[in-house]
Amino acid sequence: MKASSDQPSIPFSRLGRGIQPPVIVDLMARALANPELLSLAAGFTDNAVLPRELVGRFAAELTNSGLEDEPLQYGQNQGRARLRELTCERIATHPGERLAAFDPAQLFITNGSQQALYLAIQAICDPGDIVLVEEPSYFVCLEMLKGLGLRPIGIPCDDAGAILPGALDCLLRTLDENGERERVKAIYLVSYFCNPSSRSLELDEKVAVAEALLANGYAIPVIEDAAYRELYFEAPHPVPSIMSLDAFASFPKLYLGTYTKSFATGLKVGYGYCSHAAWLGKILGIKGHQDFGTAHFNQSIIERVLDEGLYADHLATIQQHYAHKAVVMHTGLLAGGLLDAGWRWEQPKGGLIFWLRGPDGADLRMDSAFCQRCIEHGVLYVPGDLCFSSGKPWHCARLATGALPERRLREAAERFAEVARRL
Ligand SMILES: Cc1ncc(COP(=O)(O)O)c(C=O)c1O
Repeated sequence: MKASSDQPSIPFSRLGRGIQPPVIVDLMARALANPELLSLAAGFTDNAVLPRELVGRFAAELTNSGLEDEPLQYGQNQGRARLRELTCERIATHPGERLAAFDPAQLFITNGSQQALYLAIQAICDPGDIVLVEEPSYFVCLEMLKGLGLRPIGIPCDDAGAILPGALDCLLRTLDENGERERVKAIYLVSYFCNPSSRSLELDEKVAVAEALLANGYAIPVIEDAAYRELYFEAPHPVPSIMSLDAFASFPKLYLGTYTKSFATGLKVGYGYCSHAAWLGKILGIKGHQDFGTAHFNQSIIERVLDEGLYADHLATIQQHYAHKAVVMHTGLLAGGLLDAGWRWEQPKGGLIFWLRGPDGADLRMDSAFCQRCIEHGVLYVPGDLCFSSGKPWHCARLATGALPERRLREAAERFAEVARRL
């Protein structure tokens, strides 16, 4: 790119001034640029289990001319009707969900769930507004909120990421006392195999969130990000979504899901299910302005896979694959002596992430000596401070098991443990 000093300056908008490239983009670029640097950072899935045969088969079929609803043509802004129907059916397969509760007219298809999240936030938040988040939370969302000039505020959680009873109540009262009530526009929960904590919200925890909000008069939009819900290892998490829990009946609700983790990442197809007609209308309006519809061809491929009943088998294969990789990572960290060195983590029951807590006082931030040493040792992780709204504490690390093949994953765990043991 041409040096910026040669170019005339442009007066950027408020959004343009605040926006920084997300750290995740840099982490992905580093991982792609240097295969010797083993990335436990980037949120890739595993190339080994991408559905090449299925995508190839349907891509070929779909390029046959003369198909109704031509897949190589533009489609509907909201997404393909049949895919929306099939997606509602998928959500309803999870414990505690009922098909009757999901109306395809309230579901919209997006370029990954990231786009759905962005559109939903844009529709309800102005700069300076507050979004309540778990601690830790999905760092790409935190950066996105900050980029939009919003203030993510963390609900106090314990060391493993469980919401502390009473803490939300306390937080809401404090916000009230500080005159911030009107600024609180949404709460964002990553409630299944969370990125980064890997834990799922328990029923009483979820109900307590709804009760605290209602008790304090905050009937605000609730966004539930279920990106990893389908990637369970042995059994689905038994707790129903906010859509099916009575405790959330009176809230405007948005449920986010994606086919990028569970099927073909590069097709970048995700979705949102919105309980609130006006909010949905705004989301669709913004999407219309932005792209007037997610890639029709990509949607058609996933639709065909679902329609032919081929999705569940693929999912079962990848669930087993990622369960095994989680064992490889866990065993690697144990073998690396991290428990004795004062590190803690829970063994995930689903998803692609390990959430490690180093010894108290450890500094694992991006510019720390520890991070530098990891890079010199050829291993990359996401510093945990990025996952906290306030940027603190500094002693946590997010390790992703998705991208690396088993042998390289074992090596990466070894490399990380070697540096971590000597912290
Ligand atoms: C918690 C969470 N939500 C949403 C997303 C967005 O995923 P996509 O846009 O690929 O659907 C991710 C991606 O890593 C994620 O980890």
